[in-house]
Amino acid sequence: MNIVLAQKSDALAVAKIHKTEIGKGFLSSLPVTFLEKLYVAMIESDGGVCVVAKENNIVVGFIMGTASVKSFYAFFLKRYSVQATCILFLKVFNVSQLKKIFETLFYPVKEKSLPPAELLTMAVVKEFQGKGIASQLFLEFVQAMKKKNVTEFKVLVGEELLPAIRFYEKAGFVFLKNINIHNNKKTRVYVYTIF
Ligand SMILES: CC(C)(COP(=O)(O)OP(=O)(O)OC[C@H]1O[C@@H](n2cnc3c(N)ncnc32)[C@H](O)[C@@H]1OP(=O)(O)O)[C@@H](O)C(=O)NCCC(=O)NCCS
Repeated sequence: MNIVLAQKSDALAVAKIHKTEIGKGFLSSLPVTFLEKLYVAMIESDGGVCVVAKENNIVVGFIMGTASVKSFYAFFLKRYSVQATCILFLKVFNVSQLKKIFETLFYPVKEKSLPPAELLTMAVVKEFQGKGIASQLFLEFVQAMKKKNVTEFKVLVGEELLPAIRFYEKAGFVFLKNINIHNNKKTRVYVYTIF
């Protein structure tokens, strides 16, 4: 198993894993081409960290986050808003999706007390789960965040994602509070401190 920083050419594979393994999340409801753009932007952006696990050169897991969610969304909107809007208009555009996109993009502005850095998402292909791959990805992710002078970062996780909650708690994340995004769907906020 190779644990390495992602290249732009890995973005489509990462987007597909996201869609398959986090089926219920809001971002998963968006077209895979939109997610691919999001991951390319993450890999390109200054504060972005995306680490992948590769087995025989095939991506089987990933973790991604940023030193500043606000700066990342600003970068994404500046560089990709036209392409992203076209994809959304073609595939999914309706008022409730638009509302969710705004809730997702602007919750960091509302939640000013939280650390600016965030682990945005991670997933491992089902057949490869339970083998310690997420743990290896997480170690590499922490090192990469440290290099960006991040001392603490948050993660938001839906209450229904029990394996992920167990993972974060075992990794040393501390529960901070519950928040409601997307029509009062309960989301847990955890914070990880890099020592
Ligand atoms: C969460 C996820 C990334 C964990 O990946 P993984 O490679 O299987 O995790 P690891 O093998 O490194 O597990 C490390 C620890 O996490 C916890 N854990 C992982 N999967 C678990 C499960 N299904 N049930 C309970 N605890 C689990 C355990 O404490 C485990 O340690 P242990 O094996 O000593 O008991 C994986 O389950 C996944 O992709 N889930 C779907 C996507 C998802 O929910 N992502 C989070 C979005 S915020």
